Amino acid sequence: MTLLDDAARRAQRYLESLSHRRVAPLPEGLASLKKFFEPLPEHPTDPAESLRRLDELGSPATMAMAGPRFFGFVIGSALPATVASNWLATAWDQNTGLFDATPSTSTIEMVALAWLLDVLGLPPESGGSFVTGATTANFTALAAARHGQLARAGWDVEAQGLYGAPPLTVVVSAEAHPTLIKSLGMLGLGRDRALVVPVDGQGRMRVDALPRIQTPAIVCIQAGNISTGAFDPAPEIIAWAKRAGAWVHVDGAFGLWAAASSRLAPLARGVADADSWATDAHKWLNVPYDSGLAFVRDASALRASMAIHAAYLPRAEQRIPSDYTPELSRRARGVDVWMALRTLGRSGLADLLDRTCRHARRFAEGLSGAGHEVLNDVVLNQVLVAFGDAETTDRVIAGIQEDGTCWCGGTTWQGRRAMRISVCSWATAESDVEMSLAAMLRVARDVTRPVR
Ligand SMILES: Cc1ncc(COP(=O)(O)O)c(C=O)c1O
Repeated sequence: MTLLDDAARRAQRYLESLSHRRVAPLPEGLASLKKFFEPLPEHPTDPAESLRRLDELGSPATMAMAGPRFFGFVIGSALPATVASNWLATAWDQNTGLFDATPSTSTIEMVALAWLLDVLGLPPESGGSFVTGATTANFTALAAARHGQLARAGWDVEAQGLYGAPPLTVVVSAEAHPTLIKSLGMLGLGRDRALVVPVDGQGRMRVDALPRIQTPAIVCIQAGNISTGAFDPAPEIIAWAKRAGAWVHVDGAFGLWAAASSRLAPLARGVADADSWATDAHKWLNVPYDSGLAFVRDASALRASMAIHAAYLPRAEQRIPSDYTPELSRRARGVDVWMALRTLGRSGLADLLDRTCRHARRFAEGLSGAGHEVLNDVVLNQVLVAFGDAETTDRVIAGIQEDGTCWCGGTTWQGRRAMRISVCSWATAESDVEMSLAAMLRVARDVTRPVR
C-alpha cells in the first residue's frame, strides 16, 4: 500500500468512527499526547511509521468537530466532497498567488467567487479574497475601507501610513466580535478608539443610539451575533451611514449565508447595500479549515490596499489572486469552495442552512419544554440556554462535555451564564439532535436533582 492510500484509509476509518465515538477525547487519548514529545530524529525515519504514529496518537485525542454532535463555538464539519477536493488540491500544491503560475486554481477561484457573489446576493462587480478565516477577512475588507475613505479625503494611506492622516471615525457595536476589534488594531485604527453603539436584548445595534459622525468614517455592522444569531438592523444603519458618506462593513462570519436561503433571507435584508463583507466558508459552508472570504464592492479599493509589484512577479490579463489578499503565497482555498457550491447547488446549500436552523429550533423547544430558560430568540442556528444560576449552568455544561454524547461550550450573555448550542454541520441528523437533547436533559436532571 502506498503512503497516500494508507492516509486515505486511516482518514476514512476516522471519519466513520465519528458518529459513534465520544465527542470529546477520552482522558487516555489525551494522556498519550505526551508521547509526541520525543527528541528530533537525527536521520530520516520511515514515513509509514510516522503516519501510523500520527494516527494512533493524534486521532484519539481529537475533538470530533467533523462529526454530527459537536455544537461548540461556531464550527462546521467538512463535507466529504470538500475533503476529497482538498486532498487533490493538496497534491497539486499550487501556490495560488499568481495567475500565470497557477492558471488552474486561479481560474477555479474566479468561478467560485462569481458563484459566491451570486448565492449571497452581493454585487457581481465586487472584488473577493480567499483568506484564512473571518478574522483575516475582516482585516482585509477593513483595509479596503480604510483606503476608500482616506483616498476620498485626499490621503494615500498605503504610501504614508496613518502619520498625519485625517482622523478616521470608526463605529462598532457593543457586540462586535473581538476579531473585528483586533482587525481595527492591526490596521492602526485602534482597538479602543471606535465609537461603540449600545445593543438591545438580542445583541442588535440600537438605531436610536447611533452617534453623529463625519467622514472619513467606517461603520461596522454584524450579520449573525456569535451568541444569539441576531442581525443588526442593516437597512436603517446603512441609510444613516450613507447619508454621512461613511463606508459600511458587514461582519457576517456565518450570518451572511442567510441570504442563500429564501426562508432565512429576510434576516439579511439590506445587507447587500453595504460596501464590504466578511464571512467564513469553514463555518456554514462546511469546507475544511481554514477558509474565510472578504468581498468589497469597489474592487479597486481592495486591490489598492493589497496588491504588490515586483520585477519577478508576472502580471496577467486575468485576475491575479494575490492582488486581493494579505498573503502572496497561499494554498488554493477556492477549490474547496468551488466543490462545496458545485455539489450542493443552490438548493442543497439552502437545505443545509434551513436544516441546521430547524435543528436549533428543536433544541430550543426541547429545552424550554423541560423548563430550562432559552435566553435568545432562535432566529438562526444559535441557542443560548441557562439551567438556573451560573454555578448550576456551569455544572451542566461540564456534565454534558463529560458525558460525551455531544459537546457544547459556555458563555456569559448580558450578565447570565449560559450554554451555547451552535448547529453548523451538514452531518447533524434529527436522530443526533434527539440523542443530544436527551443527554442534555439527563445531565441537567442529575445536576439539579435535590440531594437527600
Ligand atoms: C461574527 C464573527 N466574526 C468573526 C469571527 C472570527 O472567525 P474566524 O475564527 O473564522 O476567524 C467569528 C467566529 O465565530 C464570528 O462569529
